[in-house]
Formats: sequence, C-alpha cells, structure tokens
Amino acid sequence: MGSFSFVSAAAARRLEGKVALITGGASGIGESTARVFTKHGAKVVIADVQDDLGESVCTDLNSSSASFVHCDVTKEEDIENAVNTATSKYGKLDIMFNNAGIGGTPKPNILDNDKAEFEQVLSVNLVGSFLGIKHAARVMIPAGQGSIINTASVCSTIGGGASHAYTSSKHGVVGLMKNAAVELGQYGIRVNCVSPYLVATPLAKDFFNLDDDGVHGVYSNLKGKVLRPEDIAEAALYLGSDESKYVSGHNLLVDGGYSIVNPRFCMFEKS
Ligand SMILES: NC(=O)c1ccc[n+]([C@@H]2O[C@H](COP(=O)([O-])OP(=O)(O)OC[C@H]3O[C@@H](n4cnc5c(N)ncnc54)[C@H](O)[C@@H]3O)[C@@H](O)[C@H]2O)c1
Repeated sequence: MGSFSFVSAAAARRLEGKVALITGGASGIGESTARVFTKHGAKVVIADVQDDLGESVCTDLNSSSASFVHCDVTKEEDIENAVNTATSKYGKLDIMFNNAGIGGTPKPNILDNDKAEFEQVLSVNLVGSFLGIKHAARVMIPAGQGSIINTASVCSTIGGGASHAYTSSKHGVVGLMKNAAVELGQYGIRVNCVSPYLVATPLAKDFFNLDDDGVHGVYSNLKGKVLRPEDIAEAALYLGSDESKYVSGHNLLVDGGYSIVNPRFCMFEKS
C-alpha cells in the first residue's frame, strides 16, 4: 500500500525537480503549459513580449514556482538573457519550450503578400525557435541532458491551412527540429515538436476572425471533442517528462486525425 501511494504521487507530479522555460507563455497554449508544468512540480520561467500578462500569470501561479522575463524571440540577446535567467534563478534548464508564434496577416492571394510581412512571420516562428534551440543547447550540452519542444502546427505537414508565411515557418520548424535532434542526440538532448490543430487562442481567433464558438464549429475529424490549450499542454508535458525519454525527432500531431484525411474524397460516411 505504501509503495502504491509513492508511485501514485510520483505519477501525479511528472516534472518534479525540473526547470522549464516557455516562450509565448503569457497567453494561450504557452500559458496553459505553464499551469500544467507547475502543477506537475516544475519551476517555470515565462518569456514573452506581453509583460503585464506574463507577470499576472506568474502571480497567479505563485512566485516560488514561476517567474517572468521580457523576451522578444527574434532578438538573440533576449533569448540568451531568458536562458541565463532560468539557469541563474533555478540552477539549470531541463525543458525548453519554443512556443511563441504569430499568425501573420490573413491574405489569401499571394500577390497581396508583402515580403516584410512574410519575413516577420519567419522571424518569430522559425528564427525564434532556432535561437531558442541554440541557447538551450548552450546550457544543456554541458549538463548532458534536456528536452527541447517546439510548437509547430498541422500546417507543418499539409498546405492550405494558413498563409504562405505561416505554413513555410511551421514546415521550417519541423526541419529544424529534425536537424537539431540529430546533432544534439550525442549529448543526451531530445528535440521534438508538438503540432496542434485549431485551438481557440487569441492567435487563431484573430487570424480567422472567429470567436470561441466559431473556432469550435470549424471542421473536425474527431466528433464530440473540443481541442483546448490544455490538450497541447498535456502533449508538451509528455515530451518534457522522463516518460518520453527515448522520443526524439518526433512531430507529435494533436489534431484528431485532421491531417491524415481528405474529407472531400473519403469512403467513410460522415454523419
Ligand atoms: N491556436 C492555434 O490554433 C494554433 C494551431 C497550431 C499551432 N499554434 C502555435 O501555437 C503557438 C502558441 O500560439 P497560441 O495559439 O497559444 O497563441 P497566443 O497568441 O495565445 O500566444 C502566443 C504568445 O506568443 C507571444 N509572442 C508573439 N510574438 C512574440 C515574440 N516575438 N517574442 C516572444 N513572445 C511572442 C505572444 O505575446 C503570446 O503570448 C504558436 O507557435 C502558434 O503558431 C497555434
């Protein structure tokens, strides 16, 4: 009975003793992940450009387990500082969650797409992940361990779900993840992606000009379930925990099967 209780307690707090840095942690998926990670015993540093929101999430989470650092992921000195803040405050970095992202401008015609807008989306979504991986690796290599997680998207595997810039950036994030997983495996560092389908966060609602109900009403392959930020946080929890100790180079789609079906040409009748 005693050992059973011990196992249950360990299972209940799957990140006990770990330190995590979450970019884009002030809102949406990142915020939800900060909540799930601290619930599972991790110390969390939230890095974001929305200072007030990030600070208020940390206050809500308790100052002994969460802190905020201002960080624009497109600026190398900011990422470097965020990683250094985590290691100086908590002594190490076990989990790097490169999650900050923007949707860009929803312009369906490529002729209307500006080079500067395209580059801005690439800069946050792809260059930001590159800088996050680089500076996490800087402190994880000497430690000989670490889990780096990147938020990609269903747009990392299929076309047509978002703008050219966004789709390019998320395909790029998966390519970068694979390369980094190959290089960093020799140091015991795992690198993976989590790829959500549509979640009703400010990013998705702004991009598609929908409210929560509108997002939830969009086509889904999996009926009777609504994809929430917490579901992505649970996937990140798995990738950050020791339960995924041999998982690296993987793009974990959390999409209810959306990306493997063409609903316009399918032999199975949908009710
Ligand atoms: N919501 C969806 O449907 C969906 C689907 C697939 C992938 N994603 C991805 O999930 C990730 C999180 O997005 P979300 O849906 O939670 O949106 P969100 O807008 O709620 O959160 C994004 C966060 O990133 C921060 N951010 C933006 N630019 C930044 C920068 N330069 N530096 C630091 N922080 C910055 C924002 O301030 C915000 O807090 C993104 O990478 C997004 O592309 C979202």
